[in-house]
Order: sequence, then structure tokens, then C-alpha cells
Amino acid sequence: MVVMYSSYDEAFRLSIEESDRFWGEAAQEIQWDKKWDRVLDDTRKPFYRWFSGGKMNTCYNALDFHVENGRAEQVAIIYDSPVTGTIRNITYGELLGDVSKFAGVLRSLGVEKGDRVVIYMPMIPQTVVAMLACARIGAIHSVVFGGFAANELSVRIEDAKPKIVVSASCGIEPKGPILYKPLLDKAIDLSSHKPERCVIFQRPQARAELIEGRDIDWDEVMKGAESTGCVSVEATDPLYVLYTSGTTGVPKGVVRDNGGHAVALKWSMRYIYGVEPGDVYWAASDVGWVVGHSYIVYGPLLHGCTTVLYEGKPVGTPDPGAFWRVISQHKVKVLFTAPTAFRAIKKEDPSGSYIKKHDISSLKYLFLAGERLDPDTYHWASGLLNIPVIDHWWQTETGWPIAANCVGIEELPVKPGSPTKAVPGYNVKILNEEGEEQGPEKEGIIVVKLPLPPGCLPTLWQNDKAYIDSYLSDFEGYYLTGDGGYVDKDGYLFIMGRVDDIINVAGHRLSTGGMEEVVSKHPDVAECAVIGIEDSLKGQVPIGFIVLKSGTTKDHELLKKEVKDMVRSEIGAIASLKEVYVVSRLPKTRSGKILRSTMRKIADGKTYKIPSTIEDPAVLGEIEDILKA
Ligand code: COA
Ligand code: AMP
Repeated sequence: MVVMYSSYDEAFRLSIEESDRFWGEAAQEIQWDKKWDRVLDDTRKPFYRWFSGGKMNTCYNALDFHVENGRAEQVAIIYDSPVTGTIRNITYGELLGDVSKFAGVLRSLGVEKGDRVVIYMPMIPQTVVAMLACARIGAIHSVVFGGFAANELSVRIEDAKPKIVVSASCGIEPKGPILYKPLLDKAIDLSSHKPERCVIFQRPQARAELIEGRDIDWDEVMKGAESTGCVSVEATDPLYVLYTSGTTGVPKGVVRDNGGHAVALKWSMRYIYGVEPGDVYWAASDVGWVVGHSYIVYGPLLHGCTTVLYEGKPVGTPDPGAFWRVISQHKVKVLFTAPTAFRAIKKEDPSGSYIKKHDISSLKYLFLAGERLDPDTYHWASGLLNIPVIDHWWQTETGWPIAANCVGIEELPVKPGSPTKAVPGYNVKILNEEGEEQGPEKEGIIVVKLPLPPGCLPTLWQNDKAYIDSYLSDFEGYYLTGDGGYVDKDGYLFIMGRVDDIINVAGHRLSTGGMEEVVSKHPDVAECAVIGIEDSLKGQVPIGFIVLKSGTTKDHELLKKEVKDMVRSEIGAIASLKEVYVVSRLPKTRSGKILRSTMRKIADGKTYKIPSTIEDPAVLGEIEDILKA
């Protein structure tokens, strides 16, 4: 039964006032082994659960169901890899075969329902196979973005305690292969938890040395594998844990459940993105990020779409026409990517001349998220493509959009700079620091009134307390998004940026606090501050300020390089500090809090007020002089 909503307003009203009916209807699009007892289970507030008592399997809904219902020959994944010169179409039938076999492999290695499997893989079909195989047997996957270095991987292994790690010999960046195996080995060395086995997919571009007794070759083990069927899990059982940057160096393990996630993602494909089963949908992101989980893998497959798995960049693989080539070659209907990708294309091809070389008439919508869509990029993209360009706002924690123009319900007029309105299910409010609701046009802290809709994080991995402390304790009854903004008089939401120490660099979410922890480990650094400043290509980039220990005589240039190298090697190349400045003191309040937001304003050339709590205003003068120079 396809539900038709008469308008956005009507859908939104229903989702809040009659949420059981709204989500109960949406849940009928999912195949259940046992129907839920309750749509919304609020018996353990503030831990709300959706579809409790229900049983299902996410992999069944993403694969078996489609194969049993006439989609066996339909392409499920188009693997398009300009970095290896490969294009491969994988049908639903083939994907089901591979997933069932890899599920058998996991089973033969002793993986049971509830066990964790860390997946440290590049953008190849085997990554999707590994994720779905976990879902098939009720194991919990935790995918780690391939751009993270050994230390970050190790922190995740330590927390998730995986029985098995699945990895590949290398990822491929335009500059060449990135060897994963040495990073994996180092991460396991660093971690006190040791996985029992590592399954390694050997790529021809760089094969890895396997450790006997621990490492297993993917191809070898798949040869003798027996296919395995789906295990019925509780709707509330975890499907995956995805670690994301918090305000400290310790990442947060965002938990996603099975039932609510499947219902929400399936719903979002039709009503937010406007796609139908059989359509080609492309999220140009990475499976290591939430966008990849939700809209490269689960959303499109749950909805019976064809998903594009693109192992390449917007530019340089080979040119700024790469996206247009993929759209025209695979008849992509909806493209979802980060604004930074469009800024990269715009920088290399400002007139959009590469578009003319391709027929991109299949493209109906461009969705952008991950960072603020600046009006320049919006106007450039919409002028060139001549289709609706839709900003939408969400987070790893929610797993699907909080605000969007839900084109499958009703296409609302676009206001550049705004991700339109709250998506049905999200009761978005703006509060001031005292927790008072703010009227139109008044900026404040963006929160969502509980309960969050299905699909959003029910908690953090084995850490209910951190879940409450991080998200629910600032304003009772509300989920703290961490973003600031306002709603205008027409109900359009405007996101003004994070109110904490999280930054977004080229669509990658990073913690400046995490970077500070690395920088402060340098033996010559007494204290430091890392802030994100505006960047015309990447949106934001991190810069560091260091105060040296007295008596340090080391050359400053050498020191700066060492600090930059430490951040790259401990967090990953995506976290490169653009600049490091040596200062005599950091600006602080009298209680010792570093004035990061004032520093940010100075660095961005914005007007700023000297905070009344400042310890010594002269310190700001030094920062200004250094940045001007
Ligand atoms: N594995 C290993 N290394 C990776 C990596 C990965 N998956 N992804 C990025 N890196 C490395 C890059 O090779 C680069 O290394 P270098 O400094 O040694 O050259 C470094 O991390 C920075 O990469 P990136 O942030 O991608 O910057 P860039 O200048 O190479 O490219 C863009 C800029 C805008 C083209 C690129 O960032 C991009 O495509 N962004 C879109 C991101 C996106 O889709 N995010 C998902 C959110 S929806
Ligand atoms: P991530 O968890 O990586 O998806 O990052 C989430 C954060 O990215 C949000 O809290 C915002 O700060 C930012 N973000 C995502 N989408 C948007 C958007 N459309 N506009 C503004 N900021 C965004």
C-alpha cells in the first residue's frame, strides 16, 4: 500500500500528532517475520524504541525479498571505479549469492548474532557484501572509513571488540594505492582487544602479506563457503555501530537498530528523494560515512533501486566531468553528494563546459548535505543543471535527514541557504540557553523534541550514560543536535553551524578536540588550540595554535611540520592541519577556557566582541597579527 499525503503540512502533522498511525503505515512497506507489539515503545523514557516486539531481517528486506519478487535480474550495484578502470554491474540475484556465501564464511568463523565485525574497506562491492552478510546473520557491523589511520581504527576496535575484522589489501586514491594492511596490523597491535581472525580481500593493485593463523584470504575462503539464510532479529536489535567524531578524541559509537532503520530509510527514498523501485540512485560519498551506510547501501537496496558505488573523486578521475559521465552512463535519476564536491568541480570547470559533453537528462534531483550549502554553490549548480538542487540537513546520529524538501510528498519552493523544513517525524525546535522556545527569525540551539523518529540512534554503543550526557541532558525532553540556527517566518530552517568543537572538512566530520589531543602529545608543546576556519573549497579546514614549553629551541618550521605529521599519521590524511602557528599564549577566559570561537571569528575576518570574561585582551592582538601576516 503506497501512502499518499495530501501535502507536506499534512504529512508533518500526522507524523507528530498521530505518530503510531504514521509510522505503523510506513512499516507496512517492510517485510516482518513477526509484527511489532508497539509502534512506539515509551516504557523506558528517555530510551524510546520503535516497533518493539517485531522481528525481521534487514538483509532479507534489502535482497531476498526483491529476488523473490521479480528483481533477480535487476542491477543492484553499479560499481564504477575510475581509479581502477572498472565498471561492473551486479544484479540482485548475484549480490544475494555473494552475501549468502560471505554470511556462511562469517558463520564458519564463529560469528553469531550480536557479535561485532569491524569492516575497514575501500569503495568496492566486497564492502557492501560484508555489511549485508553481517545483517543477514544478525551480527553487528562497524565500518571504519578507509581514510582513518591506525590509531583511529584501533580506538574503534577497542570499543567495538570485534570477533572478526574484514579488510582489503589497499584503497586507491588518485595518488596511488593506500596500503590498508600495515594500518590494520598496527591498529590491532595498539588495541588491547584482538580480533580472532581477519578476512582480507586482496586487490591486484597491491597485495598484502597475510599473517598465518590470523589472516584469511577472502577469495580462498569464499571458494568453499556454504550459503546461509537470514536470521530473524528483534526490530530493536542493533544492525550496526558507526563511530563518529564527538567533541573529544573518543569517538561516539552511534547505534542503529534494524526495524526502525529499515522503515525510516525505505520511507525516505520515496518521500524525501522522490525515487521508486527500479530507479538509479547515486550517493557519491563513502561507505565509511553515514551517508554511505544509509544511501549507498541500505536505503536504495531496501527500496529495490540500483545503487552506484563510485570509487573515484569529483575531479581528477580523470577530470571535472567525472560526475556527468557517471550520470549519463548509468542513467542516474538522483545524485546525492556534499557541497564540497560541487565546489571542487566549479573550481576546475567554472563554466560547466564538461556538462555539455554528456547527456545528463536522466537526472531529476541533486541533493546536497554534510555541510552548509553556500548560496554561491547552490546558484552555480542549479543554474547549470536546471533541476531542483536540494539542501538537506542531517547527522550520523539521525541516519537520515532531519530537514529537507521532501519532493516525494510536495516540492516546496527552495530558499537558498536553507534545507527547507523539518522532515516528518522530527519535531524541530529552537531554544535559547535557558531552554525557552524561540520564535521565528530568532537564532538559538537546534533541538528535536523527543521521541526522535524511527532510524535515529537509540543509544551509544554500550554507553547509555554517554548518550544521555551528550544529547539529552542539556534540555530535558529534547535531543541536542549540536547545531545552531533559526526558523524563518515561513517555517524554513536555517543551519548556522555547530555550537561545539566539531568541524566538517570536505564533508568529513572531525573533532578539533581530537586533534588537540594529538598535538598536545608533541614533547615541545605546552598547550594548543585547534579551530576550524572557513575554506572556499573544503568548507572548513583546521588550523592549530601552539604554545611551546619554555626552553624549547627547536626550529619552528620543523616543529610545525612535526605537529602536522602527527595529526595526519594519528587521525588520517583527511585531518591535515592547514597551518600551525606558534604563539606565546592562548586567549582564555579568567576561568581558563580557551576562546576558540573568538579565534575563529578573527581567522575568518569577522567582526568580534572582546568577551568580558577574557583574562588578557592583549593576547587577541597577537593572534590577529599572526593571522594577518
Ligand atoms: N582513504 C585514504 N586516504 C584518503 C581517503 C580514503 N578513503 N579519502 C581521502 N584521503 C586522503 C587523500 O588522499 C588526501 O591525502 P593527501 O593530503 O596526502 O593528498 C587527504 O586524505 C585529503 O583528502 P580530501 O579531503 O578528499 O581532499 P582532496 O584535496 O584530496 O579532495 C575533494 C578534495 C573536495 C575533491 C574531496 O574531498 C571530495 O571529493 N570530497 C567529497 C567528500 C564526500 O563525499 N564526503 C561525504 C559526505 S556526504
Ligand atoms: P555528519 O555526522 O558527518 O553527517 O555531520 C553532521 C553535521 O554536519 C551536522 O551536525 C551539521 O553541522 C553538518 N551538516 C550536515 N548537513 C548540513 C546541511 N545541509 N547544512 C548545514 N550543515 C550541515
